[in-house]
Amino acid sequence: MRLGVDYYPEHWAESRWPIDARLMAEAGISVVRLAEFAWSRMEPKENKFDFKWLDKAINILAKEGIQVVLGTPTASPPAWLMAKYPDTYSRDEYGHIHGFGTRQHRCHTPENYRKRSRAITTAMAKHYGKNPNVIGWQTDNEFFREDCTCDKCKKKWHGWLKKKYKTLDKLNAEWGTVFWSQEYSDWSQIQVLAHPRSGNHYHSPSFQLDWRRFQSENAVSFQHEQVEILRKYAPKQFVTHNFMGFHDSLNYYDLAKDLDFVAWDNYPGEGPAGAAHDLMRGVLEKNFWIMEERAGHIGWDKFSPAPRPGEIRMWTWEAIAHGADVVSYFRWRSCLYGTEQFWQGILNHDAVPRRRYHEIAQTGAELKKLSPAIDGTAVKNEVAVLNDYENIWALDIQPQTEGFSFRKMLLLYTKALARLGVGADVIGPGADFKRYKVMVLPPLYVLTDEMAKKVTQYVHSGGTVVLNCRTGVKNEINVCRTEPLPGPLAHVAGLEISDYDCAGPRSVSVESSDGKAFKATLWCDVLELQSAEPIAVYKSHYYAGEPAAAVNKAGKGRSYYIGFVAEDSFYRHLMEQVLKEAGVKTVPDLPEGVELLRRVKNGTEVVFVINFTAEAKTVTLPGSYDELLGSHKAAGKLELKPFDVAVLK
Ligand code: GLA
Ligand code: ZN
Repeated sequence: MRLGVDYYPEHWAESRWPIDARLMAEAGISVVRLAEFAWSRMEPKENKFDFKWLDKAINILAKEGIQVVLGTPTASPPAWLMAKYPDTYSRDEYGHIHGFGTRQHRCHTPENYRKRSRAITTAMAKHYGKNPNVIGWQTDNEFFREDCTCDKCKKKWHGWLKKKYKTLDKLNAEWGTVFWSQEYSDWSQIQVLAHPRSGNHYHSPSFQLDWRRFQSENAVSFQHEQVEILRKYAPKQFVTHNFMGFHDSLNYYDLAKDLDFVAWDNYPGEGPAGAAHDLMRGVLEKNFWIMEERAGHIGWDKFSPAPRPGEIRMWTWEAIAHGADVVSYFRWRSCLYGTEQFWQGILNHDAVPRRRYHEIAQTGAELKKLSPAIDGTAVKNEVAVLNDYENIWALDIQPQTEGFSFRKMLLLYTKALARLGVGADVIGPGADFKRYKVMVLPPLYVLTDEMAKKVTQYVHSGGTVVLNCRTGVKNEINVCRTEPLPGPLAHVAGLEISDYDCAGPRSVSVESSDGKAFKATLWCDVLELQSAEPIAVYKSHYYAGEPAAAVNKAGKGRSYYIGFVAEDSFYRHLMEQVLKEAGVKTVPDLPEGVELLRRVKNGTEVVFVINFTAEAKTVTLPGSYDELLGSHKAAGKLELKPFDVAVLK
């Protein structure tokens, strides 16, 4: 376990670098990310590379025992590049260029941009590929869906569609362009992104989903070119990227395929970041890094509340408890210039080590002490929740009702699991379900035959699934399926949906079979049970008395179907029952705002107990442990101060 920091030596006088390096080392920081926005300094003129200043900075850091991760600087191409290759500007939905003066003003598609990206990546990789103080690379910075409408993107999009559909007739048939006379007679007639004036949201759902897939693949292909170069010239150094948790605009499973591990940028607000860490760990199903962790108040032109004493330490331990091996803070010192002047670093503008620096130094000392016990451990869970970009996007395109989304459903379950003291993996559609006793499936709204088969086999071989309303509605093309809902999973669920009602913000009463009352909102499926048994019924509206949720035994496993969306307490109640039947242990009496997480190695557990609240909490422990930080007594009951953490073994 290590601490790191994101550092911009190019923003400060050279005379300051040794002082910064010394202060970092004294705080227990041993990794620094550099250069991801320093293109204009590394290549001040086309093909004239200058790494002297960076060599110097790396050497100064190395003297303090600090290793370096280098970022390829392609998120902020310099002015000379944009002036010489104006076709590399990205264009918005109106066709206007994103002018110079911020960052990410480039389009990934034009060959001129790709060429410059390959050139700077090659120059950096050749120069640093064998430098012992450089341990790895970050590609670009926070890739996202650019939705560029330039000519190059349009051409590439048409090529992408041709590859997928082969003929225009096939595309017309699959998308159903006969609707509103949208049949195309030439590929060039197909728009690039939906123009806002043409009624963005009312564009064909099939068009929109394919556009997002194309956008995602384009970013992946851009990154791939850099990764190939880094592998060639820097074969012993790792390659990662700084992902954005629940950002959701790209398919992170595809983006991560080329990488050694996932790193992500965490800027937490109130309460736990929980499922976002689990999602990031689940992308490659291994431990991850935090490349940017909040180190102060956040905001560019307006301020957020400052982190309260203990919060930065708590966020650090939270990340580790979820499987982070390195936590790197953004940024070392608040910048004097530019857009991010008020995004606080560990040090303020005045560079005097104060409260937040000392808290990080304390955390660094704790990490050093606990490293022998924690290094090499990983998170192992019996429960997983599915994350699926195809469904996230399809429900973003057509949310069904205000407030309904894949992520909302995912979080209702992950929160309930956290409240029960049960760790959960958040995994992608390609992951092996069979490793888990329970799989929660937020709406499989776009349900391919392949996924239906995977879920069916999982249940038949003994797994438990929790299915949700709006499952089985669409096929891969984002066209409605014709089978009764939940489509190809009706058999596993042992039921059909005979009627459905968009409840919207209205609430409908639901009663569980053990007599507890809940409020359903947003959506209500009326279930027609075949082999399934009811576990909840509606108590109001025209479907009062009809089944609202049910369980079905299928093969060696079980399938739960929840036909509605409810308040938090319902999911806790439901998961208690589901986990009990599936033989998963819970810690049901955790106080509100406290989480319990585990990492293991060879059967030995390290348990993290974290108080996310500003009040003291008393936790009854599920066993007897030693407290490793040495600040707590852990016999039976554990007292946690506000934002406090205990590490138990
Ligand atoms: C992001 C970026 C950083 C920086 C921070 C703070 O996470 O990766 O470059 O801009 O936000 O604004
Ligand atoms: Zn473009």
